Amino acid sequence: MLDFEIKPLTDFEELKTLDFRDDGSDPLGVHNFVQVRAQSYGRNKLSVIWGVKSGQRLMGFFSVSMSSIQTKKLEAVEHVPEASTIYSYPVMLLGQLGVDREHRHKGIGSMMIKFCVGLAQELGGRIGCRYVVLQTSQDRTDLYHKLRFVQSSKPPTESKVWMYRKLA
Ligand SMILES: CC(C)(COP(=O)(O)OP(=O)(O)OC[C@H]1O[C@@H](n2cnc3c(N)ncnc32)[C@H](O)[C@@H]1OP(=O)(O)O)[C@@H](O)C(=O)NCCC(=O)NCCS
Repeated sequence: MLDFEIKPLTDFEELKTLDFRDDGSDPLGVHNFVQVRAQSYGRNKLSVIWGVKSGQRLMGFFSVSMSSIQTKKLEAVEHVPEASTIYSYPVMLLGQLGVDREHRHKGIGSMMIKFCVGLAQELGGRIGCRYVVLQTSQDRTDLYHKLRFVQSSKPPTESKVWMYRKLA
């Protein structure tokens, strides 16, 4: 069993050497994000980019930000009756997630998602946060369903669906 360390990245050079494509294609733009935008997003506080290492070896990353979700994207059962004048709820956005091609199907992606839920739960004890949310393609929802995320029944935006998990 490998020991993993998960912490915010400050050096993006190693991240850029990893490959987040699927057989050369990058349908969700994750590889492009790492190559072109991750460093600026981190520096400009649009996201915090976290890396997952085993020993000295970087294997994956994710980005998280404070955000909000429009209540209309959530199922009616999620609406808080006493907050009917609020049109969006506070969330943690899991903006990007990738595991290097060489290290997939070992549970690293799932581990990072669980870590995000734990982080949101911890921060949610200090600042309001009702869900962890993300957007993904319809063919990738299984990974999140297994981790108790619900898919929004609202129509996809740019062919991506919204998924959310309520914090306990
Ligand atoms: C999606 C991703 C993060 C999963 O990482 P991982 O470490 O392999 O994840 P886990 O081992 O915890 O779980 C693997 C599961 O993810 C799902 N999955 C992984 N790649 C997938 C793909 N290309 N299409 C659909 N589902 C996929 C499957 O349910 C898979 O289950 P299996 O191992 O039983 O086949 C990784 O494949 C990746 O980086 N892909 C490219 C970038 C991407 O799609 N990011 C997600 C954006 S929402």
